[in-house]
Amino acid sequence: MKKQVTLETIISLSKRRGFIFQGSEIYGGLAGTWDYGPLGVELKNNIKQNWWKTFVTDRPDIYGIDAAIFMNPKTWEASGHVEGFNDPLVEDVKTRKRYRADHLLEEHGVHKADEFSVEEMTSKIKELGLKSPEGNEFGEVKQFNMMLKTRFGASEATAIDVYLRPETAQGIFVNYKNVIDSLHPKLPFGIAQIGKAFRNEITPRDFLFRLREFEQMEIQYFIHPDDQKESYEKWKKSAWKWLVSLGLPEEKMQWHDHAENERAHYAADAADIQFKFPFGFKELHGVHNRTDFDLKAHMEKTGVDLYYSVEGGEKFIPYVIESSVGLDRIILAILCAAYAEDEVNGEERVFLQLSPEIAPVKVAVFPLLKNKEELVEKAREVYENLRKEVSGVMWDDNGNIGKRYRRQDEIGTPFCVTVDFDTLEDNSVTLRDRDSAKQERVSVGDLAHHIKEKL
Ligand code: GAP
Repeated sequence: MKKQVTLETIISLSKRRGFIFQGSEIYGGLAGTWDYGPLGVELKNNIKQNWWKTFVTDRPDIYGIDAAIFMNPKTWEASGHVEGFNDPLVEDVKTRKRYRADHLLEEHGVHKADEFSVEEMTSKIKELGLKSPEGNEFGEVKQFNMMLKTRFGASEATAIDVYLRPETAQGIFVNYKNVIDSLHPKLPFGIAQIGKAFRNEITPRDFLFRLREFEQMEIQYFIHPDDQKESYEKWKKSAWKWLVSLGLPEEKMQWHDHAENERAHYAADAADIQFKFPFGFKELHGVHNRTDFDLKAHMEKTGVDLYYSVEGGEKFIPYVIESSVGLDRIILAILCAAYAEDEVNGEERVFLQLSPEIAPVKVAVFPLLKNKEELVEKAREVYENLRKEVSGVMWDDNGNIGKRYRRQDEIGTPFCVTVDFDTLEDNSVTLRDRDSAKQERVSVGDLAHHIKEKL
C-alpha cells in the first residue's frame, strides 16, 4: 500500500538505515549540508552510473568531462552570475536577519510570488503587514547574490576572490573549444558533466531539496540555431523518459513551463519537470534553451574564437539546449516514491520499492541461525560465490530472520537468500522477493543465474 509519506519519515529512515546523515552532526550540524552514508553513497553512485551510461557512454554524440570546481573568476562575470544570480531577500530592520521574500509571501498564501518583481514583493509585504518572527518590521526587498566565495593565494594581500561554482554548466562552456579541437565532433553534439555545485541559499530546507552544497548532472547540447525548437522538445522528452526509467511514477510528475520573468538570465525558453514531494509539486529537472548566450559571452570576454565552422560552409555560434538535474533532489524523489507500507503475516512492515538497478544492495545472504556452524559455513560459501557473479551482495546475520527481512525491506534489497537445514540436505536455498514477500526454493547451482535474470 502506498500512502503519502512525510519528510520526517524519510529523514528518520535515511538516518536509521545508513543512507543520509546530517552534515557535521556531532557539532550540531551545518545548515544546507547532508552527508551520504554507506547505503546512500551506493544509491547515489548507481544513479550517476545509470545517467552516465544513458547519456554519455551509450551515445555517440555526447562527450563527458570533469572540470575543476574553481574557475577563473572572469568566467562568472561573463556568464552573468556576478550580476544576475540573485535571490530576493528581505531584512528584519532590527536583527538584520534575512529571509527569502518570495518564500515568505508564499507561506502567507500569495500565489506565484517568485514571479513578482522586488518592488511588487515589497509592496505586498507592506500590504499584508508581514513582520519577522521576532515581530519586527521588514525593510525593502533586494536582490542578493547567491555565489559562495573563498580566497586563492599565499597571503591576504595578494590573494584573489574565487567562487565555488554555482552550476557545472560553465565548466562545459569553457571547454567547448578543447573538445572540438581534440575530438573533432560534428554538430549536433553534447558535453556532459557530473559534479558539485554550491549556492548560498538563504533558507536551505526540506532535507535534500534545497542545499548549499549539492551535485548536478548537466548536458549542454550544441546545435544549429535553426534546430532550437525541435531539440528543446527532444530533450524535454528524454529527461522525462529517464526519470521514469528510474522508477519515478508519472502520476507524480508534471511539466511547468517558465513564464518570461521566471527564467534564469541566460534562458530564452525553460521548463521544469516537477515532482510531487511531501511538501508539494516542486522543481526536479530543468531543460533550458540557453541560445548562444554563454559561448558568445565567453568569446567577447576572452577574445577566443568560439565560432563553429561547417566545412566549406557557414560559420556561426552554436545554440545550446541544456538538460540539468540535481542528483540530491532525485534521491529525495526516489526515496519518497519508493516508500511503502503493508502487512506480512499479520505484521506491519515498511519497504522501499527501489528499482533493482539502483538499489544499494541487490541480494542479502543469511544463515537461518548464526550459532549453527554448519549453516554459517554453507551460507558463507553461497555468499562468496554469489559475490563473484553479482555486485551488491550483503552478508547479514544480525538478529532473528524476521528482523533481517524487515531491515533488508527497509533498505530496498530486492532479494534475500536464506541458508537453512534443508540446504545442507538438498543444496537449495530460500529466495525471497521484497515486494511480494513470496519465497521459492532455488538450487544453489542456479542461484546466481536466477538472480541475474531477475535483476
Ligand atoms: N545550469 C542550470 C542550472 O543550474 P537550475 O535550475 O538553477 O539550473 C538545475 O538548477 C537543477 O539543480 C535543479 O533542477 C535542481 O534539481 C538542482 N538544484 C538547484 N539548486 C539546488 C539546491 N539549492 N539544492 C539542491 N538541488 C538544487
